[in-house]
Amino acid sequence: MSNRLAGLLAALLPLAAFAASAAEPRTSARIASPDARITVDVTTDNEGRASYAVSRDGRPVIAPSRLGLMFTDVPKLERNLAITAQRSRTHDERWEQPWGERRRMRDHHNELRVTLAETTGSKRRFDVVFRVFDDGIGFRYDIPGQAGLERLSIAEELTEFDIADPATAWWIPAFEWNREEYIYHRTPVEEVGLAQTPITLRTNDGLHLAIHEAALVDYSGMNLTRAEGRRFKAALTPGTGAAKVDVAAPFATPWRTIQISERAGGLVESQLILNLNAPNALGDVSWVRPMKYVGIWWEMHLDRKTWASGPKHGATTAHAIRHIDFAAENGFGGVLVEGWNVGWDGDWFGNGETFSFTRPYPDFDLEAVTRHAREKGVTLIGHHETSGHAAHYEAQLDDAMALYGRLGVQAVKTGYVADAGQAKVRGDDGALRYTWHEGQAMVRHHQRVVEAAAAQRISVNPHEPVKDTGLRRTYPNLVTREGARGMEYNAWGQPGNPPEHEATLVYTRLLAGPMDFTPGIFGMDTKSGAPMATTLAKQLALYVVIYSPLQMAADLLEHYESRPEAFRFVRDVPVDWEETRALDGAVGEYAVIARRERGGDDWYLGAVTDDSARTVAVPLDFLEPGRRYTAQIYRDGDGAGWRADAHAIAIETREVGAGDTVSIVMASGGGQAIRFVAH
Ligand code: NOJ
Ligand code: CA
Repeated sequence: MSNRLAGLLAALLPLAAFAASAAEPRTSARIASPDARITVDVTTDNEGRASYAVSRDGRPVIAPSRLGLMFTDVPKLERNLAITAQRSRTHDERWEQPWGERRRMRDHHNELRVTLAETTGSKRRFDVVFRVFDDGIGFRYDIPGQAGLERLSIAEELTEFDIADPATAWWIPAFEWNREEYIYHRTPVEEVGLAQTPITLRTNDGLHLAIHEAALVDYSGMNLTRAEGRRFKAALTPGTGAAKVDVAAPFATPWRTIQISERAGGLVESQLILNLNAPNALGDVSWVRPMKYVGIWWEMHLDRKTWASGPKHGATTAHAIRHIDFAAENGFGGVLVEGWNVGWDGDWFGNGETFSFTRPYPDFDLEAVTRHAREKGVTLIGHHETSGHAAHYEAQLDDAMALYGRLGVQAVKTGYVADAGQAKVRGDDGALRYTWHEGQAMVRHHQRVVEAAAAQRISVNPHEPVKDTGLRRTYPNLVTREGARGMEYNAWGQPGNPPEHEATLVYTRLLAGPMDFTPGIFGMDTKSGAPMATTLAKQLALYVVIYSPLQMAADLLEHYESRPEAFRFVRDVPVDWEETRALDGAVGEYAVIARRERGGDDWYLGAVTDDSARTVAVPLDFLEPGRRYTAQIYRDGDGAGWRADAHAIAIETREVGAGDTVSIVMASGGGQAIRFVAH
């Protein structure tokens, strides 16, 4: 029997099982993906422990892995369980993103809801809901209100992920002081320690997996700790008390997700995480405006200006106006100004308590700057650095957003610079508590910020954020975020990002959602003098490779003015897309991505490589058949390379069509950007 046929038969099984389920508890349940290739089996063992397992084409992907929850005040839900009911259904829905990496979405999955009930004691019960897509699965605990479980004080989730086959893993450590800003490790799966998600795996047979979560709302973030061999257990981020999560029942947890694809690019094209998030809760969001922006920013990271007041203060009225005029002339939507508000003097890292989010420094005329911006059709991108003091920020939140709202500010970048575990929130007793950036209290804080911003029609871009779990679907003003090593590490250069960094991000961090990486460095100056692991062509390619609806041209304006030919691509490239294709690539080695402009016919291609120079043949079959295009090519020039000549770039044009193949030649640490102008 073929694998396909076996899968198809498996898909039919749960219906038969359901018919029999009411009478007596069963020990297994099964559901398959719409194409029948992925199956999930839920079983209970002879001690009543529940597990799930995932197969693809009949081959194990996730070996039987435990399910359950542990509490601080009542016994855990893990043993003596029986499957007392199971229901399955099919769902096929099409929906549109108001903005995004693609417009048209399809949510096609089969769902299995398994009820597990204790066979002893008070017979508590809970559901586990599985959604199986053609490219992976999601599952969550759905816990009804019941006697003895009115409140859920969750000590730990007992969810496991036992990777069936040997694999290579790309991961960053959890619970380290620098939050999500680590260089990715590439190790055998057996050498992973305590990891954040998304974690990406490639089995020795070439199957790609990514474990993450969707719809992280009113809960703590999930990390993974390796228990033994290839078996991982959930490790929730601690809360402010004994429990890691404290909620009232009924309650449904975030979805635990496992994306599965033969191609690395299949992970990138997957819509699974967005499909597991709730639809838009904000109604009309036509005010959310994807845009490129420049800012008073990179020069602070190079120590040429300061956030603080004084002779080197960056955020002056004149400097802001110069940036607004530049943005308007070049068709950019926004100007970020950091250091405009009182509180940056002294050690701003520890300044959480001194920030005012409404009082400008005397040399920054907020009213005049925003008036000038409005006249030019540009918005100020506001900035709220909190130094992790969420409680102090919340006390000013409504006033701060109202001020920006009145001034026509359309987006705000927030920041939570503080070592991990040193964010500050107020406990229910009103006292200040130190907490983790991804604990439940901070998840709730970010939710309040997004809602307060939405009330003023403002979009939000958090740095040092909670990881992205696709909430942009529900809150389309939560446009982008940081949450990984961004370009700023290259300014500091101690060390900067390695040459493979972006080709790793594509298949790890970026699976979670957009990132405010801040590309577009032309000058290549670094504080340490160490070379940046990039070429100029790679900087252009990043505008396509890294998706973000707020996309910065991060360098000093004079560096753009001195290289107008290369800058043309930054001016041209859109930030909102009709469709996206991950054409080729390998995790941590290279990536080739093509996207079609939202509402237009032009395609854009970006390719980046690691330390190895490489040539990739790319068939242009994504272009419209029969149509001709002018390819405007920005490639690494003769002698280019990140250790050699980072600036060597060749810019040329060619006529092409869907039947052609282009040869993408990249230097060490290099890349290539192409605009295909449709005729
Ligand atoms: C860290 C952010 O990533 C960076 O972009 C910002 O300039 C500083 N914090 C100051 O807010
Ligand atoms: Ca940062």
